[in-house]
Order: sequence, then structure tokens, then C-alpha cells
Amino acid sequence: MRFQTLCLVVFVTTVFGDDVDNDTLVTFPDDFKLGKGPNIWDTLTHERPHLVVDRSTGDVADDSYHLYLEDVRLLKDMGVKVYRFSISWARILPEGHDNNVNEAGIEYYNKLIDALLRNGIEPMVTMYHWDLPQKLQDLGGWPNRILAKYAENYARVLFSNFGDRVKQWLTFNEPLTFMDAYASDTGMAPSVDTPGIGDYLTAHTVILAHANIYRLYEREFREEQQGQVGIALNIHWCEPETGSPKDVEACERYQQFNLGIYAHPIFSENGDYPSVLKARVDANSASEGYTTSRLPKFTPEEVAFVNGTYDFLGLNFYTAVVGRDGVEGEPPSRYRDMGTITSQDPEWPESASSWLRVVPWGFRKELNWIANEYGNPPIFITENGFSDYGGVNDTNRVLYYTSRNPFLSILCSKDTCYFSERFGIHAVNFIDPSRPRTPKESARVLTEIFKTRQIPERFRD
Ligand SMILES: *[C@@H]1O[C@H](CO)[C@@H](O)[C@H](O)[C@H]1NC(C)=O
Ligand SMILES: *[C@@H]1O[C@H](CO)[C@@H](O)[C@H](O)[C@H]1NC(C)=O
Ligand SMILES: *[C@@H]1O[C@H](CO)[C@@H](O)[C@H](O)[C@H]1NC(C)=O
Repeated sequence: MRFQTLCLVVFVTTVFGDDVDNDTLVTFPDDFKLGKGPNIWDTLTHERPHLVVDRSTGDVADDSYHLYLEDVRLLKDMGVKVYRFSISWARILPEGHDNNVNEAGIEYYNKLIDALLRNGIEPMVTMYHWDLPQKLQDLGGWPNRILAKYAENYARVLFSNFGDRVKQWLTFNEPLTFMDAYASDTGMAPSVDTPGIGDYLTAHTVILAHANIYRLYEREFREEQQGQVGIALNIHWCEPETGSPKDVEACERYQQFNLGIYAHPIFSENGDYPSVLKARVDANSASEGYTTSRLPKFTPEEVAFVNGTYDFLGLNFYTAVVGRDGVEGEPPSRYRDMGTITSQDPEWPESASSWLRVVPWGFRKELNWIANEYGNPPIFITENGFSDYGGVNDTNRVLYYTSRNPFLSILCSKDTCYFSERFGIHAVNFIDPSRPRTPKESARVLTEIFKTRQIPERFRD
């Protein structure tokens, strides 16, 4: 198996103090529209603030927009070599379309990219990390296939402006996660309740958009810019509850419905959706009385167009589940179509996130499954990490990076859109308007690991 590890370090972390009052949540700050156009998270956090646990918004967040030079210095001090960050579509194209490019947005990312390169840090850029311009949501958002073309137009602006210096691109981050924003109205923006339909339509547009962007790079940019284009997909390992063939198949379906839905069209030899996905959604759709399958179809030309559109796979891996054969919930839904009921073993060590238990052996099994299924593609670990409730002395995170992760010695942390669970290795004081950063214990340990390329002696068993 061939894989590379890549570390990303982001800075959304500890909250000090109490909630801000409701006025500041429902009122957009005075300069709100100056920096960028509104996106679907601005709309959700302002119009439906009850959907965020602490009613916080993303208006300022950790304010890397103003403090990026300090963040670059923190990265450099840690010895970080690659920094993954996301570009906000609405900051570049305020209405989502390429007729109106926001020069202030281009300038901000230029300054960030230049500062990283000056400090010997390679930028890895995610083009889409869930913040769709509101104007495109007004057209229906991802279920509308025209977005595959609009995303290509947005990508052209990025390659033209930044591709001379950015050599690692990720088209999308975790489409598996944001497809669910079209399957229920319970929290992820845009929170549209069309389960088993809007989620599949989203996947279909996203796969075509990814391929459009990859082919665009091939046609117009690769020769001169010599970069690489991939996609960041997330998956949990699924361990069968028993050795029975039914449970083993249930976990195989879990892989195909969650990873294969995106990876099979792009990375497999035959392209298209996994056959088990097509067969089950088509059959359920028919028995539920739909004339047209809820899963859209690729034409043979599209299958060939999407096939092989990768230079690497970005993998976001955190945890594992236990799976068994079974169906629950109301039709239609992707979960019913999958027919796998999942849980987690209470023996696995916990984090602050209900879904995240520490299962390092699951990581190894997942990498083997991928290598086997897709002919050993190059893999970057684009996310991995541990959440707690905040605090600078993050002993459990230190353990996660050291003794609990024997397989990959250097792993990565991430930020999160759910502001109450804290990822990240620097604490940010969100109440202080200057958003001061404090390295946590884990930042010190990772600095040591980056320097020595080893787990420090004191953490070895
Ligand atoms: C904010 O709004 C929520 C729900 O609308 C309400 O329960 C809460 O008391 C309000 N808080 C303040 C400080 O006004
Ligand atoms: C996908 O691409 C691979 C590698 O170029 C090729 O061998 C295979 O035949 C293609 N499959 C389809 C269905 O186009
Ligand atoms: C951090 O917390 C752990 C356990 O909670 C404690 O043993 C350790 O001494 C603390 N370290 C520092 C630097 O405060």
C-alpha cells in the first residue's frame, strides 16, 4: 500500500466565557457584505439560529481573515510543511457567478498564499467546503445540475489567479456530509428536507462538477501549472457485528453507499455508481411507487468522462462503527436504501463528539479496503483528529496523536462548523475581539514530532 501523510492545522478551538446576546446573532455586522457575498451558512446561522447549539455564527469565527499572518507564524513555529485551507466561493464570486469577481477576495488569498510560501509552507487548497453562495441556493443549490457548470467556472477563476503558486487542489470536501444537508432540515446548511432524493441529486451534481473541474485543469492549466487535483472524501470503517455473511455484506454496503457513491465513479476501473447502490435504490424506488429511480443515472459518455478524474484521493478519517444487516426509518431515505444499522462499541475511547471514538485499527482496515477496491491510488490524509470541550491542557488529544495512533505517526487536526465541540491544537479566545491564540499542549507535542519525525520517547509504551 502506498500512501502519504499530510498534516493540516486549523485554529477553531476553545470558547472562553458566556453566550453573546441574541441581538448580535440576528443582526449582520455593519461590514458584513463588504468582504464577501452571503452564503448558505450566513443565512442559516442568522435566520435559524436555534440550529446551532450555542447560537454562534460564522461572521467572525476565529478571524483568520484578519489574523492570517499570525496563523502563518504559528504554523512556521510548529515546523508545519503543508497547510490545507478552503477558499470561500462567495468571497471570490459574491453572487456565485464569474461575471463579478471580488478583487478584495482575490487579494486576501494572494496574501495568504504568498505568506505561506515565504515561510516554506506549501498551500493545499479546498475549493468547496460547504459554503455555497446564497444566490446559487436560491436556484435550488446542489440538486440543480447547472451547478456542475457554475462550479467549473468558479474553479477557472481559482486556477487562473492562484494556480501559479497552488499545486495541490481539492475540488470538494466531504460531499457525503453536505449531501445530508438536502436530506433533513435539522442543522447543516441549507437544511432542506428531501431525504432519499435531494441527497442523491446533490451527489450526482457534485461528481459531475468534480469531473468538469478536473478536465478543465487538464485542458487549460496542467501543462503550465503542473499541479495535482483530487477530492476529499470521508468514511468511517465499518466492522461487522458478527461474522455472519449478512453482517459482512451490510458493512460492504456501508462502504459502497458512503465512500463508493463518490469514489466508484472516479477511482474504479469500471466507473459509474457501485452496482449494489444502483440495484437497491432502483428496486426501492420501484416498490415505493416512483416511476423514475430516486438515484440519477450517468450516460455512458458521462461514465467515461468522470472515470479517472484524480491525481490523488484526499481521505478524511476519524473513527469506526459496528454494522449489521437491517432497515429502519421512514421511506424514502438513503439509510433505508443502504440497509445497514450502525452503532459504536462502548469500549472504544470517547471524545467530545458523539460520533467520534478512537479506533486506530479501523484506519488501517479502511486504507486496505481502498487500496484493494481502487487499485492503490495515491492517498493524502486530509483530515484526522480528536475533539474535546476545550482547554489548553489537552491530554487526551496528545494521547490521540501519540500512543493511540501507532499506525500513522503524524496525524492531523481539523476545525469544525459545530462550534461547541472543539477540534484544533490552538485555543482561540472567541470573546476577545482580537481573538488571541494560545498553543495547547498538543501543539507543543506536534511541534516536537514535526521536528524529530518520531513519537517522543516519553509517549512510547
Ligand atoms: C435568545 O433567544 C432564545 C430563543 O428565542 C431565548 O430562549 C433566550 O432567552 C434569548 N436570550 C436572550 C439573552 O435574550
Ligand atoms: C477508466 O479508465 C481506465 C484507465 O484509463 C480504463 O482502463 C478503463 O477502461 C476506463 N473505464 C471506463 C468505464 O471508461
Ligand atoms: C494536564 O492534565 C493532566 C491530567 O488532567 C495532568 O496530569 C497534567 O499535569 C496537566 N499538565 C499541565 C501542563 O498542566
